Amino acid sequence: MDKKTVRDVPVCNRRVLVRVDFNVPINEQTGEITDDSRIRASLPTIEYLINNDAKVILCSHLGRPKGKRDLRYSLEPVAARLSQILREEVKFSSDCIGLEVEHLADNLQNSGILLLENLRFYPNEEENNPHFAYKLAQLGDIYVNDAFGTSHRKHASIVGITEFLPSVAGLLLEKEINSLGLVLEKPNRPFGVLLGGAKVSDKVKLLENTMDKVNFIIVGGGMAATFLKAQGYEVGKSLIDGSLEIAKMLIEKVAGNGVKLILPDDVMVVDSINPPTHPINVPISQIPPDKMIVDIGALTITKFTGVLEKCRTVFWNGPMGIYEIPQYSEGTRTIARVMSNLLATTIVGGGSTAEIMTEMKLAEKMTFVSTGGGASLEFLSGEPLPGVSVLMDKERDGEAVEYIRDQRGAAL
Ligand code: 3PG
Ligand code: MG
Repeated sequence: MDKKTVRDVPVCNRRVLVRVDFNVPINEQTGEITDDSRIRASLPTIEYLINNDAKVILCSHLGRPKGKRDLRYSLEPVAARLSQILREEVKFSSDCIGLEVEHLADNLQNSGILLLENLRFYPNEEENNPHFAYKLAQLGDIYVNDAFGTSHRKHASIVGITEFLPSVAGLLLEKEINSLGLVLEKPNRPFGVLLGGAKVSDKVKLLENTMDKVNFIIVGGGMAATFLKAQGYEVGKSLIDGSLEIAKMLIEKVAGNGVKLILPDDVMVVDSINPPTHPINVPISQIPPDKMIVDIGALTITKFTGVLEKCRTVFWNGPMGIYEIPQYSEGTRTIARVMSNLLATTIVGGGSTAEIMTEMKLAEKMTFVSTGGGASLEFLSGEPLPGVSVLMDKERDGEAVEYIRDQRGAAL
């Protein structure tokens, strides 16, 4: 990565404002964090800062509270979990800007940790409002972006803030960019991309950008219905996301590039998703008009497995069916197990795919599990991530140090 990292700037005795992605899944009924992988993923940066006597100020969003203070989206339980993991006190501030939190930040001891309340309680965060960014910047001497999963968002705590503080990458951000970058630059072949999830539209750019790099594109999940329909199959009541023409175009392009597009041969269908019923297995040529696809079928699992086993690199994003409902999760779960046994470089895009791997305790068997869902798709689509572009370039040595000296003068 050609950006400066937290290792390239002096942090001892400084207030280091770290944007993390602590957007963890929380059980609505119990309020419990169901997967703390994203918290653990930022531990290298946090521990580096503690060990180097920095004052650590963490900020994040959680969920989509739509610019309002809604305590269902409070980060307070995350402070408790982080404290448990680190076995250190983690202070919590019930606001992310203002005098009170400025006071807390100023009085933090070296190696102390403070987590701020959800940035998205202010609409200004998502609007990339410069005044909000400026207020946030008051809390730190240095800014560190460790929120890979949010770096595709042009938000105040990701982009705007870099106008006001010397800005460098955290160790997770660096690891993500390096690991995903390797897949794009030098994949061992054959290289397969396994895609699922609901929408074709989310994956178009990725498909277009990787078309000349991949050998197989394997499509399951809800988006397979659109591809099947584009090929003239009846898909019943399955959801088509308005990307039919795009799917047709992709099918043509794939053929022109010599890439093999692998689609299901059979699927699992039901009358309606709720209440869950036992799905039936039908070939794709016999999907009844009154039914909808909820999972890939047994023949397809075998077919996908055969292709995956040929690959030396696989990138996987998106479940093979409606995996949240146990009756419709067989395809996703079996493919997850297949992925874990491949003798290949296996990369899992974040979001729900990463959660499945963690829940099935298979994450450690992957070469790399990204913490970013949308962010990893955008990165692999060849898009520069807004939150990464704005960080200081590596070759501009000394600049960050000078900047901090200018700002803090004799204090250093
Ligand atoms: C994610 O979970 O994808 C990131 O935390 C970004 O969240 P967002 O999609 O709500 O912007
Ligand atoms: Mg997202």
